[in-house]
Amino acid sequence: MSRKNINIGLFGFGCVGYGLYEVLQKTPGLKANILQICVKDKNKERPIGNEHFTFDKNEILNNENINTIVELIDDADAAFEIVKTALKNGKAVVTANKKMIAEHFEELLELQKQYKVPLLYEASACASIPIIRNLEEYYDNDLLESLEGIVNGSTNYILSRTAKDNVSYAAALKDAQEKGYAESNPILDTGGFDAKYKLLILLAHAFGIVLKPDDIYNIGIDKIGDLELNYAKEKGYKLKLVAHAFKTGKHKVSAFVAPRFVKPNDKLFNVDDVYNGVVLETAFTEHQFFVGKGAGAYPTASAVLSDISALSYDYQYEYKKMEANKRLQFNNEFSVNVLLKYPVESLTKIKLYFNHINELYQNNTEGYLIGALDFSHLKKLNSIEGVSIIIESVEQNPLKKLEININQIFELNEIN
Ligand code: HSE
Repeated sequence: MSRKNINIGLFGFGCVGYGLYEVLQKTPGLKANILQICVKDKNKERPIGNEHFTFDKNEILNNENINTIVELIDDADAAFEIVKTALKNGKAVVTANKKMIAEHFEELLELQKQYKVPLLYEASACASIPIIRNLEEYYDNDLLESLEGIVNGSTNYILSRTAKDNVSYAAALKDAQEKGYAESNPILDTGGFDAKYKLLILLAHAFGIVLKPDDIYNIGIDKIGDLELNYAKEKGYKLKLVAHAFKTGKHKVSAFVAPRFVKPNDKLFNVDDVYNGVVLETAFTEHQFFVGKGAGAYPTASAVLSDISALSYDYQYEYKKMEANKRLQFNNEFSVNVLLKYPVESLTKIKLYFNHINELYQNNTEGYLIGALDFSHLKKLNSIEGVSIIIESVEQNPLKKLEININQIFELNEIN
């Protein structure tokens, strides 16, 4: 099969945009050239000459010599307008913008169908790990039972550094920003939103199910304090922000994002710093484990490059599982074992949500408990002032009700 020449109009020349420019210089075998670059800031100094740049998006979108748009800007709304126009104008698109994709997934599917042009976005989830294309091409839907992963590099970097190097949360976040890992609004990382957007994209390719961001509940790492970090250290666990998706029945899938204690025998245990890791469970192979850098200029640019290369062979996602699996429904009927930190005055209210409490420790101001509850209660609990929640494990059987009277098993101790 002969390769098509790819003439690129690039939007954005930040960390990833410049990374792509450099990576393309080093891969001359790929017949891909950046013809024009659109940027916003007229006064910013840039490492290459002004003749490469335009400030008018239409100059690129209407340029007939450009057959491919690579969209690497920060603003998800502006990105959607660019991608929409590009597809309407018959140009193939490569994007890394997970927020934009997650917020407009259905419209983007429609646009691809209507204008018969490909949209590829391998870089939008787990940067250097080729997870989307693997899910899309390799796994037949019935075989895939679950997917769980560390899909956000910044939070993994922050949690690794605070645990390992005794660095403060604020200093680790600043470091992640300086290294180009974090979003420009870092609450997207620390609040678990970025991981949620990525999970939404992975769900579409893993199970053929299309959700809206609000369907997936996300808890971030922003409320984690010393108590949880010390608890993890004492038990020999690591704290990780984990995206979960799993079947809870033949036609049911559940998914959420939350911080979790990861034990040493878990494949995700040694996925540290800016690395991402995804564990797939299938009917016959048990576990498969993908790992690679999850953020930063070159890891992200390498996934963009791979999409550009795929376009030169006319590759496009076929979304086969969406057709095959129309009966699959999203539901959140399962329970979780958690560690929950609380201010003492809210204990009476909190107790009501639990099916089971194993341990409870408190002093005059705060306490923590370990227990099981229906997942559907997490949102209400997490909105209580001063509460922070870490997942210990997931009970995938939604019907299991644990029948222990919590009043009989309270043990009140001092927190050290
Ligand atoms: N802020 C993102 C992360 C960038 O830290 O994973 C890569 O998507």
